[in-house]
Amino acid sequence: MLLDVQNLKVSYGNIEALHGISFNVDRGEIVTLIGANGAGKTSTLLSLARLPRPEAPVVTGGDIRYEGASILKTEPHTLIQKKMMVLVPEGRHIFGNLTVQENLQIAAYAHHRDKNRAAVTGEILELVYGLFPRLHERRKQRGELLSGGEQQMLAVGRALMTGSDCIMLDEPSMGLAPKLMYEMFRALKRLNSVKHTTILVVEQNAKVALEFASRGYVLKTGEIIAGGASEDLTADPGVKKAYLGG
Ligand SMILES: Nc1ncnc2c1ncn2[C@@H]1O[C@H](COP(=O)(O)OP(=O)(O)O)[C@@H](O)[C@H]1O
Ligand SMILES: [Mg+2]
Repeated sequence: MLLDVQNLKVSYGNIEALHGISFNVDRGEIVTLIGANGAGKTSTLLSLARLPRPEAPVVTGGDIRYEGASILKTEPHTLIQKKMMVLVPEGRHIFGNLTVQENLQIAAYAHHRDKNRAAVTGEILELVYGLFPRLHERRKQRGELLSGGEQQMLAVGRALMTGSDCIMLDEPSMGLAPKLMYEMFRALKRLNSVKHTTILVVEQNAKVALEFASRGYVLKTGEIIAGGASEDLTADPGVKKAYLGG
């Protein structure tokens, strides 16, 4: 088991956002958490990534285990430097005044401390360009000149540059035209099959998420109300009615 979330409770001040959720992700798996706006998807990912953000919730109960060991006390930069996991947060976090290639290189340089990081960076850059030919085409363009969808791809590309074993994505389909959205999910699927990268994606777009992931959980107002193979969830009448438009 790569990630094992046990009875996790998190709060913002005295408002509890997750009421003891449990789920797990095996190494090499693609898993999704689906749920409506406000269900607790972002809270879950922020807790897992251990980001010391003011907007991140406080864990008040339960545990988050990575390969069996609790990471509740692990520093977020340690998670990235050890290539354990990386989060692509909601929104497009890129440097608008830098080129696409500079955006990618900086993401790698910040996280690869090895002596041969130039070589490592070159190798990963090739992988990312292979997955996202569109970024390769645009490599000399400044980030701010990309379309919204391309900026989202770049944000994903930057996360991949860390070389993490596990990538977590917060609503990557948000605001993307269908064509770009499928392009991105296809690229992530290829990454998973080529590098066996574990992927945890949270989505409001349940239809797309269940097509992409092999397993999923349904999050509703801070609780997990269903879980299973994507095809079983897709066939579940309750899930169909509430999340798949009938
Ligand atoms: N910074 C915050 N302060 C207080 N409450 C928050 C904050 N962020 C989220 N919440 C609350 O926590 C719950 C879960 O939110 P969130 O994890 O953002 O859901 P989702 O990502 O599924 O839309 C919601 O009730 C939301 O209002
Ligand atoms: Mg959210």
